[in-house]
Amino acid sequence: MSNIKKSKSQFQLSHIITADGSSTLILNGLNEQYHSINGALQESTVVYIQNGLNYFTNKNLKILEIGFGTGLNCLLSYAANAEKKLPKTIDYTALEPFPINIDLLNQLNYDTLIETKFAAEFFKKIHQFATLEKKEIQPHFFLTKSLLSIQQFNTEEALFDLIYFDAFSPSIQPEMWTLDIFIKLFSLLKKGGILVTYCAKGEVKRTLKTAGFKIEHLAGPPGKREVTRAIKE
Ligand SMILES: C[S@@+](CC[C@H](N)C(=O)[O-])C[C@H]1O[C@@H](n2cnc3c(N)ncnc32)[C@H](O)[C@@H]1O
Repeated sequence: MSNIKKSKSQFQLSHIITADGSSTLILNGLNEQYHSINGALQESTVVYIQNGLNYFTNKNLKILEIGFGTGLNCLLSYAANAEKKLPKTIDYTALEPFPINIDLLNQLNYDTLIETKFAAEFFKKIHQFATLEKKEIQPHFFLTKSLLSIQQFNTEEALFDLIYFDAFSPSIQPEMWTLDIFIKLFSLLKKGGILVTYCAKGEVKRTLKTAGFKIEHLAGPPGKREVTRAIKE
């Protein structure tokens, strides 16, 4: 955690536009962004929506996101679901110990790029309400936000179908990619549940496997050969 704590005090976040025209934030002084500079929207769509949300056909879903950040994955999940003929009910829990300040959030352009009805309103709402309250943001979409880290998080509620694991990279935040964390995530999933992440490092995949997951190697978004789906069989 030390690097990230430092990043919040010594390093500033700046807004940049990625190759597909969508926003991301960069941790100044660390060579790290919230999304791929090859295209934030493209990356999140492939890794979390195509490989994650769309893995499940017609089932209501409980989703856990580790690292809510800009809220892009939450917005894309709403949009993908709302575009379906028969939307699922999504119950989305998001963990974010370091919320982004409002000035930076206001610079993000996702609401102008996603044309789904109510996307702009949805994006505003998910950043407006207080934590630890479960709220129906739009019909079929419930959100609970928490300031807890994954290390602190525990739940007695039913288990999750889908985990979006969107932590900073292993070189910046190695404590997020440990066997202990993956064992915890495995235990937070229902049988048949999955974890998706942009990271396809050999060591990460081996650690996921040791935690009990079956690993699938999937084609990545532009600029990234491979991404990962981990299944609790
Ligand atoms: C790569 S960014 C991705 C954010 C987000 N998914 C998005 O699309 O903007 C990683 C996020 O994980 C958050 N984070 C850092 N440490 C964490 C922890 N221990 N538990 C949960 N989230 C954490 C960071 O503050 C940051 O928002």
